[in-house]
Amino acid sequence: MLSAEDNELFTRIGPGTPCGNLMRRYWMPVACASEISAEKPVKKVCVLGEDLVLFRDGQGRMGLLPERCPHRHASLYYGFAEDDGLRCAYHGWKFDVNGECIEQPYERAGGPLMKQACLKSYPVQQLAGLLFAYLGPDPVPLLPRWETLVRKDGVRDIVVLPIHHHNWLQAQENSHDPTHTFWLHARLYERALKDRPEERKKWAADLAYFGRPIESFDFELCREESWTGIRKVRTYGGDNPEREAGHPAIFPNILIAPQQRFLTTHFRVPIDDTHTKIYWVEFLPNEDGSITEQADADIPVTFMEPPRRSEDEDYRLDHFVYQDQMAWETQGAIADRTTELIGAGDRGIVMYRNLLREQIAKVQAGEDPDGVIRDPALNDMIRFTFSHGQADVAKKMATEAAE
Ligand code: FES
Ligand SMILES: [Fe+2]
Repeated sequence: MLSAEDNELFTRIGPGTPCGNLMRRYWMPVACASEISAEKPVKKVCVLGEDLVLFRDGQGRMGLLPERCPHRHASLYYGFAEDDGLRCAYHGWKFDVNGECIEQPYERAGGPLMKQACLKSYPVQQLAGLLFAYLGPDPVPLLPRWETLVRKDGVRDIVVLPIHHHNWLQAQENSHDPTHTFWLHARLYERALKDRPEERKKWAADLAYFGRPIESFDFELCREESWTGIRKVRTYGGDNPEREAGHPAIFPNILIAPQQRFLTTHFRVPIDDTHTKIYWVEFLPNEDGSITEQADADIPVTFMEPPRRSEDEDYRLDHFVYQDQMAWETQGAIADRTTELIGAGDRGIVMYRNLLREQIAKVQAGEDPDGVIRDPALNDMIRFTFSHGQADVAKKMATEAAE
């Protein structure tokens, strides 16, 4: 249970809020690289409560600017991407990727109005087919090179989940909740696929994996040189016993999750206080360790449909993404943590909240929070050790289940 003050402290991420200031110290994915093209060089982006416009100018430079034109506030989204900047469609004021106003038709060239019209701009970098933005203060830290984004011994794909209608923290707390997989996933899959034998076969590995009884679980707080986070350790019983140590949840809003043979990196990006955008980068290592040259343009992207078309409809629950989304959204747009009943099984969540409180205080004290990387020597490739036989267990169980 939290006080109302702490619940506000942890969930409000707009400009100037303590948690918003913390989140702004980390790079966030804001779009897939493939969403910006010659035909469509401009995209609306809302992140951390800020309405922005992402664009590529004719010279290939990326810009991220406030959506509203400073003149009389029309949306720059409908503007023209030109060789040297983005021109507002209303009266033609033009801004370069650094936010400088470089043209004001019908105004005196170089007058004070031009200086006043300069916009703030945010740096953008591309990695693993995603465009990342940094909305925090200078100096800009390095964009972390998680192994799942930069390893070359395999192939990647991207999944963009439907917009989640809830605060970001509900998704991230779930990464410290190791017990939910049994009921929310295994049992709901069984119910949803009861009369669909073909699809049941397709999901057999997940069903079997999630369905193993969890005998015990624990958490490790990790403070590494290039990241801080919490690892889950689960011991499974049943016919396929295993101690699984891995699953690092990287502070503040990332999870690296083994998913059968994939290593999936989940980014939970706050759109605003009550909406969250989730990007996955799935990395599938080559079994023989060989190198695959995969250009960003060749990384396939899947945009998932929402689990229901309106609030009056029931959720479809035949995919674990939708099972999680149902749980997180039905907790409320911002979960009321003043009335929750926290048990021993929730101690990972308590550990995470303590870390969040500590890191907000660090930023308030003028320090870098944990996991802000400035030394290139720490960022060549950030590797993890996983001790999980999940791929093997899942394969074995899928074979058994299919027989
Ligand atoms: S509102 Fe953009 S140029 Fe006038
Ligand atoms: Fe889940």
